[in-house]
Amino acid sequence: MRQWTFLSFAVIFLCELFSLTNGAEQRIPEEKLLVLTVATKETDGFRRFLRSAKHFNYTVKVLGRGQKWKGGDYMTSPGGGQKVSLLKAALEGMKTKDKIILFIDSYDVVFASGPKELLKKFQQARHKVVFSSESLIWPDRHLEDKHPHVREGNRFIGAGGFIGFLPNIKEMVSNWTGKDNDSDQLFFTKIYIDPAKRKSINITVDTKCRLFQNLHGALDEVVLKFEDGRVRARNVLYDTLPVVIHGNGPTKLQINYLGNYIPNTWTFETGYTPCQEDLRPLTALKESEYPVVVIGIFIQQPTPFVSVFFERLLKLQYPKDRLKLFIHSQDVHHVAQVTSFLKDHGRLYQEVKVIGPQEEMDGAAARNLGFDMCRQDKDCDYVFSLDIEVVLKNDNALKILIEQNLPIVAPMITRAGRLWSNFWGALSAEGYYARSEDYVDIVQGRRVGVWNIPYVANVYLVKASVLRSELTDYELFTSQILDADMAFCHSIRSKGVFMFVNNMHTFGRILSTDNYQTGHLHNDLWQIFENPMDWQERYIHENYTRMMKEKLVETPCPDVYWFPIFSDVACNHVVEEMEHFGKWSGGGNVDTRIQGGYENVPTVDIHMNQINFEKEWHKFLLEFIAPVTEKMYPGYYTKCSTPLNFVVRYKPDEQPLLLPHHDASTFTINIALNSKDVDYQGGGCRFLRYDCSISAPRKGWALMHPGRLTHYHEGLPTTAGVRYIAVSFVDP
Ligand SMILES: *[C@@H]1O[C@H](CO)[C@@H](O)[C@H](O)[C@H]1NC(C)=O
Ligand SMILES: *[C@@H]1O[C@H](CO)[C@@H](O)[C@H](O)[C@H]1NC(C)=O
Ligand SMILES: *[C@@H]1O[C@H](CO)[C@@H](O)[C@H](O)[C@H]1NC(C)=O
Ligand SMILES: *[C@@H]1O[C@H](CO)[C@@H](O)[C@H](O)[C@H]1NC(C)=O
Ligand SMILES: *[C@@H]1O[C@H](CO)[C@@H](O)[C@H](O)[C@H]1NC(C)=O
Repeated sequence: MRQWTFLSFAVIFLCELFSLTNGAEQRIPEEKLLVLTVATKETDGFRRFLRSAKHFNYTVKVLGRGQKWKGGDYMTSPGGGQKVSLLKAALEGMKTKDKIILFIDSYDVVFASGPKELLKKFQQARHKVVFSSESLIWPDRHLEDKHPHVREGNRFIGAGGFIGFLPNIKEMVSNWTGKDNDSDQLFFTKIYIDPAKRKSINITVDTKCRLFQNLHGALDEVVLKFEDGRVRARNVLYDTLPVVIHGNGPTKLQINYLGNYIPNTWTFETGYTPCQEDLRPLTALKESEYPVVVIGIFIQQPTPFVSVFFERLLKLQYPKDRLKLFIHSQDVHHVAQVTSFLKDHGRLYQEVKVIGPQEEMDGAAARNLGFDMCRQDKDCDYVFSLDIEVVLKNDNALKILIEQNLPIVAPMITRAGRLWSNFWGALSAEGYYARSEDYVDIVQGRRVGVWNIPYVANVYLVKASVLRSELTDYELFTSQILDADMAFCHSIRSKGVFMFVNNMHTFGRILSTDNYQTGHLHNDLWQIFENPMDWQERYIHENYTRMMKEKLVETPCPDVYWFPIFSDVACNHVVEEMEHFGKWSGGGNVDTRIQGGYENVPTVDIHMNQINFEKEWHKFLLEFIAPVTEKMYPGYYTKCSTPLNFVVRYKPDEQPLLLPHHDASTFTINIALNSKDVDYQGGGCRFLRYDCSISAPRKGWALMHPGRLTHYHEGLPTTAGVRYIAVSFVDP
């Protein structure tokens, strides 16, 4: 037995050798091959198929174009008979006997290699017709026993792909009289399991997926194989490199995944290589000819930095008279921000529509309505859906996405420093999030390109033409069980429309809306923990980082350091927050807010803890002040433990000055919160030992000096207006 196996291996080996050496002369020329496929509609999958065919120079003839599809939907019932009818009709006119016909599906098929390899493998199969194989039998399980056994590999045929000589295929379909919704799979199966017909037509099955890979039932067998600047799908069970990859049955997402790479759309060597002629450059257009875009802005929960969102929207690089705004402002906390933006800038846009909280419209309904604003408007070319928590840092995002010329495309955004993003690379069996093999590489930018994926949210561009064809259903976002985003993506997938995510540029990030309190006047001040990056951009002085890097700290007096720390907005927000709170201390010596109840050097002030800002302020000191102290006082590391943090108000008729004093601190931080000569006259600080004054404080700049001993100091009189400073007494 053992010897026999060995022998038969040797024979196979010899045959392979023979075919390699001898076969070269009798090679079927590539011109003999004709690819036939049925596509009644030009789906995104069909276009992908054609691109892959073109890549390898296959000659393709499309059957049934423009006809109504009556072959069933395949998911719920058999069908596909219409394909056999069309094939039969197409073959009737063909005469050339030695023509080779490859008949395959196209909505979910890509070529992984060219005609030469396909024909060689066909010849090596030594039959007149070779069917793709399947490991699962359908639609009639009772026919299982009638299938011939195979030594290794799949026993069953797949009607979605076969190759053969024209006369044999003609013969095979000659008796077809079925209806369009009859099963093509059953029809071919019955021919195959009939020993006489199998023999006379000379049919075999591609058991080990050398030519065809059907993915249904084989997901674990197929992996991407990168080699020498090329990418293939490899069947690891049979160690083969199939030429035709078919996402049959419920494996549409897997073929989408493989199609991101095959044929050579992305390789390690070349990166992403889009088909240039598929792009839609805007550079050739005058601004007045730019596509019209409805920007749908959805504000559906209390969200930090909404004012910043609108500032960025204004900076978006796109002619505003080609933009229409649809704003769903569901949350009462943001009505004022929306109103103020529209009052100042609304007229710049071609049209503005607002759905306010009083309309009590839910998120899904608003999204349906926003999309309909474009669908119904024949001038509209795109919907750009933008949730309020999106931080779109790239001003060119809209142009970049339009130029991709895709049905639905999202800019990739992530949550700062996390693997969380606005797309999913795969779906679980239940339709929820699953991680694709390449997800982390895409999110972290190790693989860069444009990726066909099953789910996007938060920000994406949709072509109006798709809304008017495949996606005419008004209620795309509505579902009994799914949230609006999932319902939308489900609708898209079920219509065979592709969605993509683009990570070729840095587009921005997404805010966390967790733990957002709305009880303050300027709630964003409290976001230093939840959204630290946005907090820094909003509230830290734009020159702080450069100051740190280039050591631009000034020294106006001995051992007094002066540096930019707060943005204008930060200063204003802190002052306004304090005035909004309003419980200024009387400036007397008795102070129940501090330990001991007695204040040596009383000021009119409000402590940070009175507005529940103590934790946030401490974090600010640690993140932005401690690095300065470490730089200026080498070897001194502070935990920024701070017995006192407060905002002081100086006013001529209240408390205009502070007499000379020491601070109860190792060092003191004193931040000017408004501007001399604009908001007040006078003011400043004098260090008596050095007879040195800082008489022109700069708004947003901090003074840092030792608290005791050497730095006996006074607050100079404010002679007009109101002056505010923020002070921290810092101990080790
Ligand atoms: C396809 O054909 C063109 C010219 O007809 C040729 O330049 C190109 O190299 C061919 N590509 C492949 C993959 O064979
Ligand atoms: C077609 O029908 C004829 C007549 O019934 C039969 O002899 C022949 O085997 C059939 N061919 C196929 C491929 O089914
Ligand atoms: C096929 O279509 C016919 C009507 O043309 C219908 O009566 C029949 O039930 C359909 N069969 C299947 C399997 O859907
Ligand atoms: C199929 O045709 C080949 C020649 O092309 C032949 O060698 C082989 O025996 C045939 N197989 C059957 C089952 O008739
Ligand atoms: C930051 O520094 C630049 C260059 O010195 C200056 O022009 C700019 O005004 C500074 N920004 C602010 C807010 O002071």
